[in-house]
Amino acid sequence: MTGLNHTLLAAASDTAERYDSLVMFINILVVLFFVLVIGATVYFMFKYRRRHEGQRTSPVKHNFKLEFLWSAVPTVLLIVMFAWGFNDFTALSQTPSNALPIRVIGKQWNWTVSYPGLDRECTAEMTDDGGAETEFVVPVNRPFTLKLSSEDVLHSFWIPDFKVKKDALPNRYTGYTVTPTEVGSHRFYCAEYCGANHSRMAGTVHVLSEADWQLWLDGKLEGMPNCKVDPSAPDYAPKLFVKYGCAGCHSTTADQAVLIGPPLYGLDTKGEETMEDGSKVATDDNYIRESIEYAEKKRVAGYAGKNMPVFRGRISEVELDALVNYIKGLDDADNGPTNDGTDSE
Ligand code: CUA
Repeated sequence: MTGLNHTLLAAASDTAERYDSLVMFINILVVLFFVLVIGATVYFMFKYRRRHEGQRTSPVKHNFKLEFLWSAVPTVLLIVMFAWGFNDFTALSQTPSNALPIRVIGKQWNWTVSYPGLDRECTAEMTDDGGAETEFVVPVNRPFTLKLSSEDVLHSFWIPDFKVKKDALPNRYTGYTVTPTEVGSHRFYCAEYCGANHSRMAGTVHVLSEADWQLWLDGKLEGMPNCKVDPSAPDYAPKLFVKYGCAGCHSTTADQAVLIGPPLYGLDTKGEETMEDGSKVATDDNYIRESIEYAEKKRVAGYAGKNMPVFRGRISEVELDALVNYIKGLDDADNGPTNDGTDSE
């Protein structure tokens, strides 16, 4: 933190420190000019007040020196503000060679953060109140460069303590470089209205000491998400379910409210389901698979007009297997999802 940060808000990055200094510089100027202008106004009101009936204003001649000064001084100050701000702004898009690349993907309504070359991917977890929380880690005092994009609509990746924010766009990369300067945990949010769960599309970035960062890389740091991608882990499928946005539309337990799409628990994998056109379809593995890849092909009765994206080509076979097994394992009973890779009938 710099001595100039009087905003009571955390300044946990180099950007935040520079930003606070500039804001403080501008604030000081604003106060100074307020006092100057209002002070002069009050003083002149008093000094040149009308003293008696019939008093006439003395002829006003212009003063070149004064007029030059009150034009030139603010001009110089404005140029200083611009140059200072522009310099800080361009620093956001300069990538030092030791910067840690981090890939951030936004989608309705969660964030996925991965580390190119590190085989780590931090996906969101659903909270009890329907929010999606993503946690990831970065080392302290080392710049990291975010590469942002969106899979659907506009989102915006905002870390208030770092004082950085940038839109995540579909079909284009954006990003910024920032250096965290304090070990600790900092919230981040989606800052661009993107639909129903916009306000709960959030997470935490944990800034680790260099030693802890090395431990994390070795997979030995306790108390932090390790973000390893392991298809044999029991939470692999539930994480995919959140990552691909399934959780935003389909409830998985009877306790949850029915969302946009049909609930997925309690599917009788040896039974039938009635479609919108009245036909019956066997609810086997191939039905589940097709419903993930091309949901529109068979529409469950009662869900007319509720559209689901095509997932064919977006999900690998391994992921598809995991999701099919996961959905088959979602019981009627309220004991929540099971994912032991076996049929639960
Ligand atoms: Cu994503 Cu708001």
